[in-house]
Amino acid sequence: MSEFKDKVVLVTGGGGGMGVCIGKRFLEEGAKVYITDINEDRLKKAKAEMDPMGAVDYVVCNVTKVADIEKMVAEVVKRAGRLDVVVNTAGVWVEGDSWEMTEDEWDRTINVNLKGTFFVCSRTIPELIKTHGCIVNISSDAGIGGNPGNCIYNASKGGVTLITKSLGLELAPLGVRVNAVAPADVETPMLVGQAEVYGGGDIEGYYHNLLRKYPQGERAKFIQPSEIAECVLFLASPKVDSITATTLSIDCGLTAGY
Ligand SMILES: NC(=O)c1ccc[n+]([C@@H]2O[C@H](COP(=O)([O-])OP(=O)(O)OC[C@H]3O[C@@H](n4cnc5c(N)ncnc54)[C@H](O)[C@@H]3O)[C@@H](O)[C@H]2O)c1
Repeated sequence: MSEFKDKVVLVTGGGGGMGVCIGKRFLEEGAKVYITDINEDRLKKAKAEMDPMGAVDYVVCNVTKVADIEKMVAEVVKRAGRLDVVVNTAGVWVEGDSWEMTEDEWDRTINVNLKGTFFVCSRTIPELIKTHGCIVNISSDAGIGGNPGNCIYNASKGGVTLITKSLGLELAPLGVRVNAVAPADVETPMLVGQAEVYGGGDIEGYYHNLLRKYPQGERAKFIQPSEIAECVLFLASPKVDSITATTLSIDCGLTAGY
């Protein structure tokens, strides 16, 4: 029997590329999955896609608003009766020269990626203490090392990597594990959006520039979201009870030389 059978899993950014994949993997293992996202159309589409696989439900939530998070968590607990695993997937991308960045770009990125991740952790912890549950955050290779033109995103994901350590230490005596994954470039709508917005009209050129950083050289290719989902399930598994306060890189070795 699966270790996730009848466990209740909450996935933020659950209408996005990784969120859908992560939700599906937990459903395959018999979990009850609650997806949440700011974008209701994405949630509806994700639910329709996931429904044949098992118990999935959704709640709309903007993770930049603490009151919204509190309502969403209360709703999930009301419907499900418990919470075992929280996966913080909601995120946004920004890039560009630091001297041209706007206050809005800073606020949006930090608010979704860092504030949102922190407060979803914060407001779900009381439920996770009851179940000795766990949290898996989605950081990034950009949360491990710096990249030119990535200052704000680096700050947001570096923050995610560090709050994962701090929360892991803080919650260890309470039986709650907190870990993160740090993927490099994953083939999702976010990556497509990056190329469209920042590629200067040359989408293939944008992709080429990303891939040429990889140690695999000519053999480099984008990471599939299914691989991220596999690693999230690994970290959420009670079989790896000793793993906490850590960040697992899923980046083809990209950050190994940092
Ligand atoms: N795709 C990549 O290359 C890559 C690499 C490393 C890390 N990441 C991180 O992985 C996570 C998932 O990214 P993805 O590739 O699936 O992107 P995605 O754009 O497909 O999904 C992100 C989801 O977050 C939701 N979201 C955005 N703002 C929100 C808010 N305020 N409240 C609630 N939901 C909100 C979006 O609606 C979207 O459905 C993100 O945190 C991202 O930063 C992505």
